[in-house]
Amino acid sequence: MRKTAAIIGGGVIGGGWAARFLLNGWNVNISDPDPEAKRKINEVLANARRSLPGLSDVEMPVEGKLHFAVSIADAVVGADWVQESVPERLDIKHSIIAEIQQHCRADAVIGSSTSGFKPSDLQQGASAPSQIIVCHPFNPVYLLPLVEVVGGEQAAPEIVEKASGILSALGMKPLLIKKEIDAHIADRLLEAVWREGLWLIKDGIATTEELDDAIRFGFGIRWAQMGLFETYRVAGGEAGMEHFIAQFGPCLEWPWTKLMDVPDLTDDLVKKIASQSDAQSGMHTIRELERIRDDNLVAMMRALKGQNWGAGALLNTYDARIKNAESAEIDYSKPIRTVARSIPIDWVDYNGHMNESRYLQNFCDATDRFMELIGCDAEYIANGGSYFTVETHIRHLSEVHAGARTYTTTQCLSGEGKKMHLFHRMHHTDGTLLATGEHMLVHVSLATRKASSPSNEISRRLEEISRMHANLLMPEGAGRAIGQKR
Ligand SMILES: NC(=O)c1ccc[n+]([C@@H]2O[C@H](COP(=O)([O-])OP(=O)(O)OC[C@H]3O[C@@H](n4cnc5c(N)ncnc54)[C@H](O)[C@@H]3O)[C@@H](O)[C@H]2O)c1
Repeated sequence: MRKTAAIIGGGVIGGGWAARFLLNGWNVNISDPDPEAKRKINEVLANARRSLPGLSDVEMPVEGKLHFAVSIADAVVGADWVQESVPERLDIKHSIIAEIQQHCRADAVIGSSTSGFKPSDLQQGASAPSQIIVCHPFNPVYLLPLVEVVGGEQAAPEIVEKASGILSALGMKPLLIKKEIDAHIADRLLEAVWREGLWLIKDGIATTEELDDAIRFGFGIRWAQMGLFETYRVAGGEAGMEHFIAQFGPCLEWPWTKLMDVPDLTDDLVKKIASQSDAQSGMHTIRELERIRDDNLVAMMRALKGQNWGAGALLNTYDARIKNAESAEIDYSKPIRTVARSIPIDWVDYNGHMNESRYLQNFCDATDRFMELIGCDAEYIANGGSYFTVETHIRHLSEVHAGARTYTTTQCLSGEGKKMHLFHRMHHTDGTLLATGEHMLVHVSLATRKASSPSNEISRRLEEISRMHANLLMPEGAGRAIGQKR
């Protein structure tokens, strides 16, 4: 049965939470008194729909139902998860939490998005403090995986554990913070850099654009994949971390930093920052900047996926969870559904449709899946056997656009001895045939790089599927030479 999340406060962060839950198959109830809330949420959802599904190489769950609740009670009754994302004022948060607790389930997780308050601040005076925790996400919540989870001393350990399980299933990275502290961990790091940046602007040393360039062309890229300490470990070279600290640690005591102090945010300084920022980015609307940001995040996180590292490794775990659940239900007597995916933003070229290399990528993924299903999986390959593709014929039959939901089926035309002959059909979920890919593969020994016989188990499974598929019609287009018409 579908689970339900109640999102209390549907601004920048609440809207992002709504998208993260909805696109992961949860029903979502939103409560927000802002008359513009519906429009804003729908805009955030549109951005999330165009970016998040393309992060996955599998089909995400069917989207849940969205309900704009008439009251907090209407939103939270029966909900499994309640996420509070109202403005950052403790008096408002206290009164909202009190109202939530009058109507919500006793076993529901109540997560607060607060950037600054500790769980003990939020739990103060609550009727059931043990179900209230901090779940502090990062904007855009539908793409960035990190959530700082803080229970403090009063939260029930089972609520913290349940919350972590749910957040992981949503594709997020719950970072459990054992000791509560104002502003948690990540914002403390960010504020240190921000404070330093404000001084550099105030003292007329750098503009907003120069500061951003200093980040995005250099250490920002490093941080995105290794963070601070692993990066410094590498910087220490073979001598390692101790050497690095011995070399650079003393610099921290030189008068390089003004970290202990914050510049006065006078009207003049605020105007200076705002006008520099206008000069830097004023040519884009906020929605445009959000889409540029989302496109960049998707492309970078997909690159990390290829390296199975950091945020990319997390995405691979998310995909594997969905793929394993699907394996149990395969009907081998028909062309096998080997790939189901939304087309990522970065697969589209200057013609505004999917680049031809991505058709091959899609069919290659379909072949990989078929190989897994006959037992030629990562373990088998690590032991020295695999298949190499020796011939490919792709027909591009219809345009494919970013965000298109597609699925691919694989028919085994023959599978005997060392050879495997596959025919893939890529469809839009509306039924349109988008492309076909025909491939001849040969089993090889990875030690000799030469053709070799597959294991008995792979031969048996391949022949079994090949026998079943022999009853299917020969696909239209199979065996076609290039340029040949019907
Ligand atoms: N903006 C960020 O980058 C960011 C990041 C992480 C966490 N947070 C935290 O998330 C929370 C929300 O911040 P935001 O940036 O989304 O603010 P926001 O101003 O964009 O959204 C707040 C929303 O709460 C609604 N609201 C006000 N009173 C309400 C009530 N009684 N019931 C229901 N909704 C009500 C408002 O109408 C508004 O839509 C804050 O606690 C903030 O610290 C913000």
